[in-house]
Amino acid sequence: MAVTGVIFVLFVLAHMYGNLKLLSGQLAFDEYAHHLRVFGEPMLPKMGLLWIMRIVLLVSVVIHAYAAFTLWGRANNARSTRYAVHKMAQASLSSRFMRWGGVTILLFVIFHLIHFTIVKPNINADYTQAQIDASPYIMATASFKIWWVVLIYVLAMIALGMHINHGLWSATQTLGWANSPSARATAKGIALIVAALTVVGFLIPPLAVAFGLIAK
Ligand code: HEM
Repeated sequence: MAVTGVIFVLFVLAHMYGNLKLLSGQLAFDEYAHHLRVFGEPMLPKMGLLWIMRIVLLVSVVIHAYAAFTLWGRANNARSTRYAVHKMAQASLSSRFMRWGGVTILLFVIFHLIHFTIVKPNINADYTQAQIDASPYIMATASFKIWWVVLIYVLAMIALGMHINHGLWSATQTLGWANSPSARATAKGIALIVAALTVVGFLIPPLAVAFGLIAK
């Protein structure tokens, strides 16, 4: 879980940084999206980098989910009688939501892939399907002009931030990266900063569109 979790965090940070290009306008964002598809050519085939990334992410999702459900089952079997004091009394908010947060993120990613990669449905009547298909910038900005789409993204990014906050800290423990009290405090601080950066960075483009701060 820890290793695949770190792979996800690296992907998420890179994706968040790339999305901020939406603030630079249609030309910059569409050029960036195109560049991702031709990156490494002719050493790699067209879409080569994208397919390597997709395969790494897909394998990581399978391993991460398999480990999560195994742990979930093990925790349920570990104790048949109830705790006298609620077992969650000492747990942080982020740690309590790990399981349902994980399921929420998985559902969000399925929605997100249908929305922006696999089907790309046009959900904004002010645009045509041809415009959506021609420009990733138009696809994203047309979507974020719709309040319920923005709401889904806001809720999903809060779930993602909480998951990263606890998951990254937990990964440092599993991988033995924080063995002293001061190293543990540093690891907690870094996890919180990465989580906050992810939530804020991902939400800047949708909120900028929703509040009319991006011109088109
Ligand atoms: C506000 C938040 C987000 C925005 C604005 C956003 C935007 C986008 C866009 C525009 C694409 C299509 C890119 C293209 O076709 O060139 C995309 C693809 C993708 N996004 Fe996001 N995304 C967000 C959050 C996330 C999160 C949180 C995850 C994962 C946890 C994620 C995972 C992916 C994946 C896996 C792809 C498919 C890449 C591919 O295989 O082509 N995204 N996103």
